Amino acid sequence: MKKALKIMGTILLLVFIAIQLYQPAPNVDKGQPATTDFMQTYSDMPAEIKMIIQTSCYDCHSNHTNYEWYDYIQPARSLLVEKHIKEAKEDLNFSEWNSYSQRKQKRLITSIKKQIETKKMPMSSYTLMHHNAKLNNVQIKLLTQWLETQE
Ligand code: HEC
Repeated sequence: MKKALKIMGTILLLVFIAIQLYQPAPNVDKGQPATTDFMQTYSDMPAEIKMIIQTSCYDCHSNHTNYEWYDYIQPARSLLVEKHIKEAKEDLNFSEWNSYSQRKQKRLITSIKKQIETKKMPMSSYTLMHHNAKLNNVQIKLLTQWLETQE
């Protein structure tokens, strides 16, 4: 019995190691500045607001994720990290902001405000590990006030 458990454990460990070798292409741009980026579009945005959005939203909603070492651990990377990035970018990609129609931008500004106010974004499963991305009440206020000026 004990021996069987040991063999099982070894097999599981080997499978875990093997799946680490499968790593999808990372969500990183090649360093070209995107002219369509949210930050370029609103270039007079206060630096503090820029910082907050980049820190709390860009890992999922842009073409450049700042990965942490634990983001590379499989199968979480494929099942959570890359899945979230893909879904987030489909809805809202800050890197491609200025390629959206005026109408879509307007809708998204309202949606962003709502997601922040209701604390739905950044996702709690993400801030659990990325503490610095969590928004405090002062930051929420700063963001929503700025967003209102763009509505
Ligand atoms: C961990 C990844 C992640 C982070 C970080 C994140 N989001 Fe999201 N966001 C998502 C995903 C995934 C969806 C799609 C949710 C769905 O389809 O249910 C989404 C959806 C949204 C939507 C809805 C878009 C629409 O079509 O109306 C908005 C707005 C949004 N996020 C804003 C933000 C903002 C603002 C931040 C930063 C304060 C942020 N998100 C941070 C993953 C993330």
